[in-house]
Amino acid sequence: MNSITLTQPDDWHVHLRDGKALARTVPDIAKQFSRVICMPNLVPPVKTVDEAIAYRQRIMQHAPEGSAFDPRMVLYFTDHTPASEVQKIKESAHVNAIKLYPAGATTNSDSGVSDIRKVYAVLEQLEKHQVPLLLHGEVTHSHVDIFDREKKFLDDVLFPVIQQFPELKIVLEHITTSDAAHFVLEQKQNVAATITPQHLLFNRNDLLVGGIKPHFYCLPILKRQSHQTTLLEVATSGNPQFFLGTDSAPHAQHTKENACGCAGCYSAVTAIEFYAQAFDQVGRIERLEGFASHFGADFYGLPRNTAQITLVKEDHIVPERLDYLDDQSIVPLYAGKTLQWKKV
Ligand code: NCD
Ligand code: ZN
Ligand code: ZN
Repeated sequence: MNSITLTQPDDWHVHLRDGKALARTVPDIAKQFSRVICMPNLVPPVKTVDEAIAYRQRIMQHAPEGSAFDPRMVLYFTDHTPASEVQKIKESAHVNAIKLYPAGATTNSDSGVSDIRKVYAVLEQLEKHQVPLLLHGEVTHSHVDIFDREKKFLDDVLFPVIQQFPELKIVLEHITTSDAAHFVLEQKQNVAATITPQHLLFNRNDLLVGGIKPHFYCLPILKRQSHQTTLLEVATSGNPQFFLGTDSAPHAQHTKENACGCAGCYSAVTAIEFYAQAFDQVGRIERLEGFASHFGADFYGLPRNTAQITLVKEDHIVPERLDYLDDQSIVPLYAGKTLQWKKV
């Protein structure tokens, strides 16, 4: 197949940042997706519905003229989130979910939840109102190996939460392991997962063999190839519990090419092409539409898009660098390399 037409896709996990960064991130993502779930890990974080609405207005100032771009907002869960905020999310036209970062797990997660048992009163409200809980699923204990932090989170944190709140809608964000894929498969349809392009296309060899490649460094960290294979299997299986979330996250070049490099890959500019490449590599390009354009909307209870996009099989070079902020740059994921698909 040399061309594929699909329903306009959405991105159910993206980092746009704030201020001048929006001039880069918003036009980039709006060229690719219609609805995008905007992660709330700003400094300071987006903690209330009012703050989320104000952030959405700042984002919309950079939306391309006449586009159908529709940022969907998420609140940042803290130890102090009041249970009453859930009702406000439910009533909001623009806020769709709440995001739990275990404190210290990833970029800008210091104000995250210190112990999930402290926030069970809020989880009860989320379950009652069917507001999705989005999870960065990694434990943070220093004695747990970085490659085991996702699995440990499933066993120690998520399993008890699901026992206690069986109807809670949960998205396990950016899954990276067979353990996470199988965990989701064992749950009912109220538990879903997003998968990033980097976890479908790459593994820890891409990050570590022949020198450390900081532009492949994100959290949860890339795992071994057998996990990548399982992720490709479930993403392309047609199971609606797995859908697209790029986790595109801008970090300036000098903050990644650094003795203490930041975590996050910027994939926004060629996101759908990355996914097309991954699906085509396993001979399942015809399954891309469900994953990219249907299952996320269905999970969030939003209508499917009606517009369409077309991708053609044509070599396409990922830009080497992108301008960022006043005088900085971003090296995007797979910079300078060739992809086989192009959005027309
Ligand atoms: C994200 C970021 O930079 O905000 N980084 C990442 O490595 N994925 C945060 C996140 O999603 O964990
Ligand atoms: Zn995360
Ligand atoms: Zn993220």
